Parts: sequence; C-alpha cells; structure tokens
Amino acid sequence: MKGEENMRILAIETSCDDTGVSVLEVKNGKFFLKGNVVSSQVELHRKWGGIHPTLAKREHQKNLVPVLMNALKEAKLLKKRKTKKNDFGKIDQILKKETELLRRLRLFLKNYEPPEIDLVAVTEGPGLEPALWVGVNFAKALSYSWQKPIVPVNHVEAHILANWLPQNEKQKRIKLPAICLVVSGGHTQLILMKGQNRYRLIGETRDDAAGECFDKIARILGLEYPGGPAIAREAEKAKKGNVKLPRPMIGQKNYDFSFSGLKTAVFYNSQERKKSKGYVRQVAKESQQAIIDVLIKKTLKAAKSFKVRSILLGGGVASNKELRKQISESIEKEIPNIALYIPDLKYCTDNAAIVAVAASFHSKRTKPWQKIKADPNLRLK
Ligand code: KG4
Ligand code: ZN
Repeated sequence: MKGEENMRILAIETSCDDTGVSVLEVKNGKFFLKGNVVSSQVELHRKWGGIHPTLAKREHQKNLVPVLMNALKEAKLLKKRKTKKNDFGKIDQILKKETELLRRLRLFLKNYEPPEIDLVAVTEGPGLEPALWVGVNFAKALSYSWQKPIVPVNHVEAHILANWLPQNEKQKRIKLPAICLVVSGGHTQLILMKGQNRYRLIGETRDDAAGECFDKIARILGLEYPGGPAIAREAEKAKKGNVKLPRPMIGQKNYDFSFSGLKTAVFYNSQERKKSKGYVRQVAKESQQAIIDVLIKKTLKAAKSFKVRSILLGGGVASNKELRKQISESIEKEIPNIALYIPDLKYCTDNAAIVAVAASFHSKRTKPWQKIKADPNLRLK
C-alpha cells in the first residue's frame, strides 16, 4: 500500500471527546508527521462519568483554533500576515451554528496566512453527531478560506490505517489480506481488509463496544473515567481470587460480540459484595481478562479462516497492555506465520495523525466544501 506522492495534508479529528489537528507530509510514498496536537477533554467528562455530547461540542469549539495553531507551529507553517484580512466571505454562514468557533476562526484568519498545504482532511463519521459537525464545519470554513479541497475520512478506517504511520521499518511492509480488530469506546468490529480501500465487515458488537464495557464496569466499581486505563491499573494490583465472569459469545461460530451481559454480570456480582479494594481489583482483572479472551478468540479464528497474512489492531482499547501482550503470545503460539501490527500507544486513541494517513490513501476522493456532511452512523465501504 502506498499513499499518493508528494503532498501535505492538514487533518482534523473531533468524532468524540478529543480535539485533534495534524500535518502530514507524503513524499515519494513515505510519511512524515510534521505536527500532531491533541487536546483531551477527559478531565471535563470525568465529572459526568462519561462523555456528554453537547459538552464535547462546546469544548471542540473552544479548542479547535488553538490546537490548529499549535499543530501549524510544530510543522513550521504558522505565518503572520503582513496586512490584516478583513473580508471573510461565507464563513459566517458556514459556522452559523458554531458562533464561539467562528469568533476564534475570524481572529485567526485575520492574522495568519493560509498555510502551505494541499488538502484538508476531516473525520465525517462515525461518531457523536454534535462533535462531528464542529470538526466538519471547521474543515469547510478552512477549505473555503484557503481554497483547498476536502477529503472526508471514515474514523474506523483511520484507526486501521494508523498502522501505516511511521514507527519502525517493519510497519512499512504490511502484507494483505489482513484481519483488522477495531476496538474503541464506540466500536468493536472485525474487518477483513482485502486490499487498499477494499474492506468487508465480518463481525461487530451487537450491543456495547469493548471500550464502552470497560467504561461502564469502571463506573460500577467506582473507578474513574475513562474506564479502560483505570481497570488496567487496578487489574495489575489484583491478588488471586474467586470472581468468575462470563465470556459472552466466545464459543459461537459467528464473528460478532456482545459486552452488555458482562457489565450486567459485574453489576449483580458487586451487589452481593462489599466493594473492598481487593474485590474491586479482582473484578477489574477478571473483566479485563473476559474482554481480552473474547477479542483474541474471535480475531484469531477469523485470521485462520480467511487465511490472512496480517492482523491489525486499532482504537483506544488496543492500547491495553495485557491485550497487546496476550494477543501477541497467542499468535506466536497458534499462527506464527501471521504478522501482528499494533499502532504506537499515542496512535491508538483518537488523534488527527490517523485521519491524515487515511486521507493520503484517498487523496483522489476530494469533495467541494458544500458537499461535506457529518454522518454519525457512517459504515466502512
Ligand atoms: O479510540 P478512542 O480514543 O475513542 C473512540 O473512538 O471511542 O477509544 C476510547 C476508549 C475508551 O472507552 C477507553 O476506556 C478505552 O478506549 N481505552 C482503554 C485503554 N485506554 C483507552 N481500554 C482498555 N485499556 C486501556 N489501556
Ligand atoms: Zn476512535
């Protein structure tokens, strides 16, 4: 797989609670990440125990311009204008529902030159609708002002293509077909990647996503948001115990998942017990293991039956240390001829570098700004 030759992409990500902007340069099919800034809203959403879409929207409005400026600064593309700009054309109309963002963007456009980029990329979906729209409208306003085309990006594909980001030599020779496991707060999907831009969804969760399950169990246990890292930390400190939780759908022939029953099992188990530190740690360890067992079993089964050459992981849950270790050991033991790829930790959770990489593979799919829309339920085609 190769990205298009020689271009500079400015990418925007706002599908959930992270505001991200990145600048990626593609030269002779190689990637150079020039700037990548993420502003996390974790502290804010922690108070609510989860993500609140309207709050997320408000935060994206506040953060997008400063994050853009920092990313441009990192990429050495932030240049002051000699004469101030005062005519902003249609941006008032494009950002009529994002007045806070409009105010900040006007100030930015007034004072700074259009950067030397070729494309604006933005996550169009799937994700939280109010959050997606802020990023999409911001991208439209930039595309219009700078007169650069937009490439809309599917967030799930971006999590998969994170594996092509520059990390080490091995990463550049990923062999297809591949089985991709995308596990995040919003998605749990097994996707067969037959070739560049050729995907087939073979299974997905029927209810909660794996990350959502971590988050909900953490809440039951009184641990902080986001639940994944909190549960992983507690699990590490667990002593041997007798808590036993189900592995939903592990023995079924299909490639679907179900995690809501696991959360319910934790709920009932914890009703009968005092939530001592030791107990919380045991439940954390057992529930993390239950999720890992199901993910590994189904992913390896799919890899064998579709005779793939690689397994690719992506999404926030792919940053789980135990999952990374155990899937690697299982592959080594059962299918050592299949290569495993997992993005660096910073490219597992949401960020705009993965959006830029995805856009580079679709640089011919540009659209005029008038035609871009957010689609919270977008599917991978
Ligand atoms: O990909 P991501 O940043 O956002 C979505 O697209 O949803 O994933 C966030 C999810 C959260 O549910 C969080 O609890 C989970 O990823 N997560 C983890 C870990 N780090 C983040 N789950 C398990 N172990 C982790 N270390
Ligand atoms: Zn994500």
